[in-house]
Amino acid sequence: MRRPGGKLDVLKARGVLGGGRAIIPRIETASTPGAQQAARKARVLTGYRPTGPLHVGHWFGNIQNMLRLQEEHDAFFFIADWHMLTTDYDRTELLPERVRDLVLDWLAAGIDPDKATIYRQSDVPEVAEMTLLLGMITPLGWLERVPTYKERLRDMAERDVANYGLLGYPVLQTVDITIVKGELVPVGEDQVAHLEISREIVRRFNRLYGGVLVEPQPLLSEAPMIPGSDGRKMSKSLDNSIGVRDGEEQIRAKVHSFITDPRKIRRGDPGRPEICAIFALHRQFSPDILESTEANCRSGALGCVECKRNLADRIVERYRPFRERRAELETAPDVVDDILAAGRAKVRPIVEGTIEAVRDAMHLG
Ligand code: TRP
Repeated sequence: MRRPGGKLDVLKARGVLGGGRAIIPRIETASTPGAQQAARKARVLTGYRPTGPLHVGHWFGNIQNMLRLQEEHDAFFFIADWHMLTTDYDRTELLPERVRDLVLDWLAAGIDPDKATIYRQSDVPEVAEMTLLLGMITPLGWLERVPTYKERLRDMAERDVANYGLLGYPVLQTVDITIVKGELVPVGEDQVAHLEISREIVRRFNRLYGGVLVEPQPLLSEAPMIPGSDGRKMSKSLDNSIGVRDGEEQIRAKVHSFITDPRKIRRGDPGRPEICAIFALHRQFSPDILESTEANCRSGALGCVECKRNLADRIVERYRPFRERRAELETAPDVVDDILAAGRAKVRPIVEGTIEAVRDAMHLG
């Protein structure tokens, strides 16, 4: 567990880590009322594959959500590095840097290791054992029907991903959740099918071996649709994204490359904000000029070049504190290792309890 007064607390005191506002000293121990209250919060769990730099779509889809979850729940956030192997098994050399980058991004964004438990899937080998066991009771038909499985096979046809591991993705995910007794799992639209299959596997397990596993419930999370430069949903694979780590020039160049209303060719032409990707981003970044932007786009008074410049100014400013905190964290030695070690220590007793109960229920050693 973390030692008060250690390296991480020094970073917190400087505002580099944690909420970034006034730092409230946390000297609670397991027996203080505050800590007991925290223990009664529902455990919410979510994992992310370390697939590359965070972009603005993740920021509004995931990070904002995580910041709220860590306040309201007993939040477990983990790096799903084994899940990354389901598609990227042939580029494992990227793993160490991507894991580190993702943790640093979380920290710089305000994910607070004193509020949320941050750990790495592969630091919990019992996850692999339990995946083997749940694999024994998971019908192939359930796995073959999962929409993301079919999509990956189709979209990555050139990459040879039709492997056992990819088919087993939802089994591994079920273990991620149940091994730490996750009660709530935030689900965007693409995760509904995954959670449903997890619930079915849990029910089947409990029917066969007794009520050992907690059945997770979906926590519906809303995420605004963030378009990328081509107007489609911002996504790394479409190469249409703005990275939250991008520097000022990069942000300006990328915003400039966005498509706008094709009928608005020059200033003076009336535009349609409701179909414009730039306006969709203004909704997130520009509360101060949202109304005037909308009105002046419609009337034609505002040209796209100026409108884009206004947006780029705000994106650059919005992520400035993030970039500064991240740059400072980069220079702090061992911060990622320390946080992952603390997370691992925190989940260890929970995981041991689950795996022992599972082995017992199945009459294994
Ligand atoms: N499937 C999630 C993704 O696409 C990652 C993930 C792995 C996950 N295990 C999980 C999410 C458990 C929630 C709960 O990034």
